[in-house]
Amino acid sequence: MDPLNQTQVSRRGFLASSGAALATASSSTAAQAKPKIRIAQVGTGGRGVYWGTDLVKNYSDVVTLVGLCDINGKRVKVARELMGADAPTYVDFDQMVKETNPDLILITTTDSAHAGYIVHAMELGKDVLTEKPLCTDEQQAQAIRDAEKRYGKRLIVGFNARHYAEAKKIKQLLMDKAIGDVISVDYQEYLDTSHGASYFRRWHRLKEMSGTLLVSKSCHHFDQVNWWLDSPPVEVVAYGDLKFYGRNNSFRGTHCRVCPYRNKCQFFWDVTKSASAVKLYVDCESEDGYQVDGCVWRQDVNIYDTYSVMVKYANGARLTYTANTFMPYEGQEIGINGTKGRIDFNMYGGGGYKDFQLRMTPNFGKSELVTDLPRRTGGHGGADPSLHDLIFREWDQPDPLGLKANSLAGALSSLVGIAGYRSIERGGERVKLADLAKL
Ligand SMILES: NC(=O)c1ccc[n+]([C@@H]2O[C@H](COP(=O)([O-])OP(=O)(O)OC[C@H]3O[C@@H](n4cnc5c(N)ncnc54)[C@H](O)[C@@H]3O)[C@@H](O)[C@H]2O)c1
Repeated sequence: MDPLNQTQVSRRGFLASSGAALATASSSTAAQAKPKIRIAQVGTGGRGVYWGTDLVKNYSDVVTLVGLCDINGKRVKVARELMGADAPTYVDFDQMVKETNPDLILITTTDSAHAGYIVHAMELGKDVLTEKPLCTDEQQAQAIRDAEKRYGKRLIVGFNARHYAEAKKIKQLLMDKAIGDVISVDYQEYLDTSHGASYFRRWHRLKEMSGTLLVSKSCHHFDQVNWWLDSPPVEVVAYGDLKFYGRNNSFRGTHCRVCPYRNKCQFFWDVTKSASAVKLYVDCESEDGYQVDGCVWRQDVNIYDTYSVMVKYANGARLTYTANTFMPYEGQEIGINGTKGRIDFNMYGGGGYKDFQLRMTPNFGKSELVTDLPRRTGGHGGADPSLHDLIFREWDQPDPLGLKANSLAGALSSLVGIAGYRSIERGGERVKLADLAKL
């Protein structure tokens, strides 16, 4: 029986029905009888530990973490300790699912491994919550959409970037037609020599692992614009290059800890200064050789560190997007140009919100700052707790801003990035999303 069709709230079909159970479970005694959602998590690196810790600390009234899995048998045990969880640990996903019988699979592995687990989890009859990006190439996008139809399971993508106070306000302003119809969006992303460099130290540096930063990083931004515009992206043109990291240096090592150039390299980073990073990564290297302090100058870097993308939307709007990953400061500059005015959002200093400004300027009217937005504390400027509450406490409540991101949203945001790297591979050719996958 397809659990999604059950009218009675059950642990099955979490994303379709059990938000109601979650919402009441925390507040009524009658709901005590309602079972908690059983979550099995795969991928227990930094982000995985963040999710797991949050579930244990803040959502244990509505969810139970029943299993943890990672290909690195040491890391998954350290992760359990860091999370404060008591779930059994596994290196075999199928064994975990068989033994723990979860309702929901939470996927926090490296990017290119998401799709395989999504499809397999659905095949095993499970709903899925996955970190972004949904997938890293067009075949994966197709396989996920096909699996969802075939197995009738549901999927949510953890797009926390929709949950920034300013992102929500922009959505509201656009829904209210505050600037009329949107003609174009200008979006510039700046990653600094710390945050930006972090992607070139690790697996993200390999296209086959991350789908390049056009997918791994920029899927957040493409999703925001897709959601703001409420119209599907249809066509992409992009240029990109590796101009700074990788081969672009006269010296290189393997990883910082043993590097002979540590005294002269401005990118020397001492992982041993972080006790938790040593526990989670350095002490587990014997299992898989994964070094989080890899050299940013390695010759095998095959992603782009600078890129420019143009996207055409079904409604005729255009996005002009650039990202640079070796900037002296973090930030974003976003301009949304409508028939009746413009919205500007400028943010410098990253998710910590050091300096930011949202401005609304009607044509022929007074330009005003939008201030006093409700702001939460917590990861990514309060965006993470907002996302987690939506999923675990508010799933059955009205969602006027459309914050819930399903597989289509995940696929379209990934596909903009995938079309972007295909376009770059083909020397700036125009790539139609419909030619990549039939969604
Ligand atoms: N939404 C956000 O703000 C945000 C922030 C950081 C990371 N992320 C995403 O979270 C995910 C994890 O990122 P991270 O920084 O924790 O990376 P990480 O390298 O710290 O951890 C990834 C973990 O996945 C494990 N893994 C890899 N392949 C696996 C497989 N086939 N089966 C089981 N485990 C496997 C690795 O051993 C590692 O423990 C990525 O998809 C990343 O894009 C999202």
